[in-house]
Amino acid sequence: MRSPHTASLELWGVRKEFGSFTAVESLDLTVPEGSFFALLGPSGCGKTTTLRMVAGLEQPTSGVISIGGRDVTGTAAHRRPVNTVFQSYALFPHLTVLDNVAFGLKRKRVPDARAKARAGLETVQLAHLGDRRPNQLSGGQQQRVALARALVNSPSVLLLDEPLGALDLALRREMQLELKRIQADAGITFVHVTHDQEEAMTMADTVAVMNEGRVEQLGPPAELYELPSTAFVANFLGRSNLVTGSVVDVGEVLGVDVAGTRLRVPVGRVSAGSTGVGAVVQLGVRPEKVRIVANGSEPTSGSNVLGPGKVTDVSFTGVSTQYQVDLGDLGVHEVFAQNSSGAPEVRVGDAVRLAWDVDHTFGLAGEPARSGQ
Ligand SMILES: Nc1ncnc2c1ncn2[C@@H]1O[C@H](COP(=O)(O)OP(=O)(O)OP(=O)(O)O)[C@@H](O)[C@H]1O
Ligand SMILES: [Mg+2]
Repeated sequence: MRSPHTASLELWGVRKEFGSFTAVESLDLTVPEGSFFALLGPSGCGKTTTLRMVAGLEQPTSGVISIGGRDVTGTAAHRRPVNTVFQSYALFPHLTVLDNVAFGLKRKRVPDARAKARAGLETVQLAHLGDRRPNQLSGGQQQRVALARALVNSPSVLLLDEPLGALDLALRREMQLELKRIQADAGITFVHVTHDQEEAMTMADTVAVMNEGRVEQLGPPAELYELPSTAFVANFLGRSNLVTGSVVDVGEVLGVDVAGTRLRVPVGRVSAGSTGVGAVVQLGVRPEKVRIVANGSEPTSGSNVLGPGKVTDVSFTGVSTQYQVDLGDLGVHEVFAQNSSGAPEVRVGDAVRLAWDVDHTFGLAGEPARSGQ
């Protein structure tokens, strides 16, 4: 069921004010045709408002929205080549599953509505349940019906607003893979809204991280994870240990003084900004890249090393053991050690140092932001 009319989506300076409150600040976004795009951000950052503007359910205060190169800013919702799947599936309880899927097609007097609806149910692997009513399906199955209902309309762009929010973890994971498969098969442009970073990273080719109505960073998941460009992104997409220092050595690898300790970071892993001698930078490292150096052992030479600090918590989470290490003025740092690799034998109260490869360090140029973390 490959869509003949997939399209790109573009937002130019799109802004939404509700009275004196700005929910979305001048947003510029380009979602290429056929891509799987995720809008990721905390509750209240403006994700739903953005989707509603694209769908035509909310009028932007200013800015232009175009789909497939056509300005749709003033176009009524039902005339936009867009379908939305909301978190609440909103199926008609009195109609069968098949009639639910066929509903929009019949209303538009599309020929062969039922046959097309049946094909839509096949796409989501529910053809065998077409005669049931929605209340005879599980939550995940209802979700797939809602998805089929949106897909059969052959939208150019499909908007998904936290569509998996109500599902348990296992079903959520299954549906994530299923949605990815359907998107790849149908070739439709998907814009998926979620506040679950793992979900965004698993599914999307491009993730836009939103905070307080703005996009903080946009890129492929691995790039955002490896090289976050703001402290917010560093902590919203996975966890990060961050310390602040000033540049004392310039070159391919910067030397940074952090409270009297010299740390190093490849200059290519520092976000845009000043990196001259004396410049303030935050250095970061992901918890799974950090090794605990117990008393009596030595870190690999050439590593970045901080501490000693005190282990304040050891938590076994199944796949990993997570340590909290209090480094005093440098804050509490996290270390995730995979349980397959023989997690280090340290206990709460032990004094340990933390070490990691220079190449795993990233830098954020500039003073730490006071808010937004
Ligand atoms: N109709 C409205 N009138 C006034 N304020 C609104 C209106 N709709 C949304 N807001 C506000 O705009 C901000 C963004 O809301 P939005 O629903 O877009 O957030 P969200 O990112 O989807 O959050 P969540 O993850 O909780 O769904 C919120 O502070 C919200 O209270
Ligand atoms: Mg929302």
